[in-house]
Amino acid sequence: MSYKERQIVSEELTPETPEATEAEPVKQRKNGLYPGISDELAESMKSGWADTTLHGLEPIAQAEHTAARRAALSARFPGERLVVPAGNLKTRSNDTEYAFRPSTEYAYLTGDRTQDGVLVLEPTGAGHDATVYLLPRSDRANGEFWLDGQGELWVGRRSSLGEAEQLLGIPAKDVRELPAALTEATGPVRNVRGHDAGIEAALTDKVTAERDEELRVFLSEARVVKDAFEIAELKKACDATARGFEDVVKVLDKAEATSERYIEGTFFLRARVDGNDIGYGSICAAGAHATTLHWVRNDGAVRAGDLLLLDAGVETDELYTADVTRTLPINGSFTPLQRKIYDAVYEAQEAGIAAVKPGAAFRDFHDAAQRVLAEKLVEWGLLGDLSVEKVLELGLQRRWTLHGTGHMLGMDVHDCAAARTESYVDGILEPGVCLTVEPGLYFQADDLTVPEEYRGIGVRIEDDILVTEDGNRNLSDTLPRRSDEVEAWMARLKG
Ligand code: GLY
Ligand code: MN
Ligand code: MN
Repeated sequence: MSYKERQIVSEELTPETPEATEAEPVKQRKNGLYPGISDELAESMKSGWADTTLHGLEPIAQAEHTAARRAALSARFPGERLVVPAGNLKTRSNDTEYAFRPSTEYAYLTGDRTQDGVLVLEPTGAGHDATVYLLPRSDRANGEFWLDGQGELWVGRRSSLGEAEQLLGIPAKDVRELPAALTEATGPVRNVRGHDAGIEAALTDKVTAERDEELRVFLSEARVVKDAFEIAELKKACDATARGFEDVVKVLDKAEATSERYIEGTFFLRARVDGNDIGYGSICAAGAHATTLHWVRNDGAVRAGDLLLLDAGVETDELYTADVTRTLPINGSFTPLQRKIYDAVYEAQEAGIAAVKPGAAFRDFHDAAQRVLAEKLVEWGLLGDLSVEKVLELGLQRRWTLHGTGHMLGMDVHDCAAARTESYVDGILEPGVCLTVEPGLYFQADDLTVPEEYRGIGVRIEDDILVTEDGNRNLSDTLPRRSDEVEAWMARLKG
């Protein structure tokens, strides 16, 4: 049966609906796309199923952490009802959907990853009571489990509400009761917008954009400093990503004969086997494509003699992602000019990483890396006789450095994006902050202001850096960065 057919069955043939139970012709009405369902079959499907209820489940590993995160949220908004949806499936085309990923806010506060879930914090005298609203197990008695498109027969077993309570450490209720409960609720409410249109419709008269934005900002800023669980996840993401990069190097000779697509697929395999997914669209940019910052078309050729800029990250099952870039000589050896440019970026990254420490301004690592790059560009004669200071004052190096040197990293690749300027870009680093340091130099293929041999060369080196009590720790340092070490590593892997 096709997906379309099961929707039709679900809409029209559910036995408990009067139409379906009373009128056999209903079952035959739609284009003859599905076989008729006899009353005997409908009856048969109601029973004869074993009880698979799970008992004594251990809480998920991050349950203590999610409780602490909810407590911080509760303290910030006393007396208000807070609604945090996971979101729903999104249509890809017609009746197929994208793989589901819950909203970062919901996953951060619950550790749950199922679609349609909603966390609600109900105000009490002393704080809040948390409830997670979920789709319960499918009802077999009314046919939902095999006739509904979201029935467990089609999409797989869900946790029962009781099981979810044990796993998440949060009381659970049926999400189908929530819209009515929200409509009837009184008192101040805030909702994380953009994930669940049904919840937003139920709350439309109760919330304001400004107050909802304050909730979103809080949840973004709460994630700036990572807890121990999150740091372990980010390390796991970096380690899996390193394995993905090794996989790519091992197939490079094969990829030469094919395309960037092959590299994308190779990394994706690792992401799905060692994690949940890729944390963002992999940038598999060979040759001049490396000068396009977000090259995700990945439909180019991979040729010996060119560089491959691979910017990719594995997202763990708990939804933390790495964000790593290496720029690799496809045949295993940098040309002298490629090495000159690569080493300049490496030097800039070293300066940037050295500027990441507690008490430093967030902007410091960007400034440190930009200075090195400006010095190199001046040294190479690409900026006439301007001084480095003048170049930096006018920002002229940015023709080739193009982007900021890094960003917060966590559950979102560009994490904490709703944080206020004073908490992020103008903020001060403290232990537990995780960010990327990713300087680059990009000489576009049609840039007439640089010597011809520079054109079409793009280099970025990106690592994931955790601020520690006494400096920083490079979470992605299992991958080599220095040009000679990159070559030695590639030679070893290529065998
Ligand atoms: N992969 C996107 C970035 O580096 O920010
Ligand atoms: Mn990045
Ligand atoms: Mn990146």
